[in-house]
Amino acid sequence: MSISLVTGVTGFLGRHIAARMLRNRPQAQLWCLVRAEDEGRGRERLLRSLAKVLSEQELAAVEHRLKVLPGDLCLDSLGLSDDHRKEVLSAVTEVLHCAADVRFNQDLDDARARNVEGSRKIAELARSIAAEGRLARLDWVGTAFVAGLRRDCVLEGELVHAAGWKNSYEQSKYEAEQLLREEYSDLPVTVFRPSVIVGESSTGATSNFGMLYWPVQLYARGWWRTVVGRPETPVDMVPVDYVADAIEYLSRGQQHLGGTFHLAAGPEGVVTIGELAELCRQYFGGGAPRYIAPDTFMRWIRPVVDLFIWGRRRRVIRAGGAFFVPYFDGNPIFDVTESSAALKSAGIKPPRVRDYIEVLFDYCVETDFGRRPPKPPGRAQGAPSVSAA
Ligand SMILES: NC(=O)c1ccc[n+]([C@@H]2O[C@H](COP(=O)([O-])OP(=O)(O)OC[C@H]3O[C@@H](n4cnc5c(N)ncnc54)[C@H](OP(=O)(O)O)[C@@H]3O)[C@@H](O)[C@H]2O)c1
Repeated sequence: MSISLVTGVTGFLGRHIAARMLRNRPQAQLWCLVRAEDEGRGRERLLRSLAKVLSEQELAAVEHRLKVLPGDLCLDSLGLSDDHRKEVLSAVTEVLHCAADVRFNQDLDDARARNVEGSRKIAELARSIAAEGRLARLDWVGTAFVAGLRRDCVLEGELVHAAGWKNSYEQSKYEAEQLLREEYSDLPVTVFRPSVIVGESSTGATSNFGMLYWPVQLYARGWWRTVVGRPETPVDMVPVDYVADAIEYLSRGQQHLGGTFHLAAGPEGVVTIGELAELCRQYFGGGAPRYIAPDTFMRWIRPVVDLFIWGRRRRVIRAGGAFFVPYFDGNPIFDVTESSAALKSAGIKPPRVRDYIEVLFDYCVETDFGRRPPKPPGRAQGAPSVSAA
């Protein structure tokens, strides 16, 4: 029987990975590090999160295999009680670290405290489990964007570069991966690097409406219809179900231990800003896309937004502007040779963007970009629309 210590299960990707671990590994127990004042409140948070991806019956059937460890990456010893730490050292066999602070607007010290020092604490705990002779693996969820401002094709084995990063999030994830490679090379670490994760390919469901959803929201509401970006900029996006399927599969057994895997569309599946803009236009209507260079937008247009636009429209434009616009200027391409080969026999591969983008847009419209809950399955579909205000 495996006992996995898992972080980040209250988050978007973590809940999908945990659901697959619970479904595909009938003997496995998941001990989940959850930010909460006590176990009871932690369990409530955990079950609320898993209820988004498991049916009521599924959840009832797996609940006894879940244990909650109240904790926090920012606290000494991860905030674990002495009793919980002892239990972890005497029982846990695998660690999957998915938690991170994914905000792009933190200052670098805060991002490092959560993402670098948080990873160090997890790796230290994993080392203590290894000292007990029990650690089978440490799976670590990074990001393909450790490649930062590189614009070439990045191989899965590569990390070190001097190109710089778009924000403190990318830099802190880079430093965390470097830390694991340099200071914890004695541990059985496998690194997963997803690109931009979007909603489920079958339902569109997501809890994160940032990044690529930002310009779509502006366009759909008719707030800003000129595309901020270069039409030729590559955008690598993958649905959450692909990423979670891949991580759950590659973190089983010994075969893929020690690898680094881009979970990305790759050179063949990547789309461009121009293609995305056209798909958006076809769905939401409007004329042929016009473009404005990101630096021109930031320099000349955004200050005008501050002067002449108010309310939610201004908040949304401002919120995304500084942090998402760099991703529409230029991006690396992520090589996927290792991950494609490793996932081939399991038939796990990212779907083509064209085949699921409308489902993502449908979900945005149905939930008004996260402002109203999705319809329960099976109810008659009305004709939901996004509000312009
Ligand atoms: N989303 C993407 O496009 C994307 C792309 C590439 C890689 N990734 C990586 O995927 C992983 C998951 O991202 P996500 O999109 O699922 O983010 P998310 O929805 O924001 O979830 C983040 C998770 O981390 C937990 N967490 C944050 N700070 C913590 C702390 N101090 N102590 C304990 N737990 C903490 C959160 O707990 P609370 O519920 O308590 O906040 C939540 O469970 C991250 O490692 C991220 O770098 C994401």
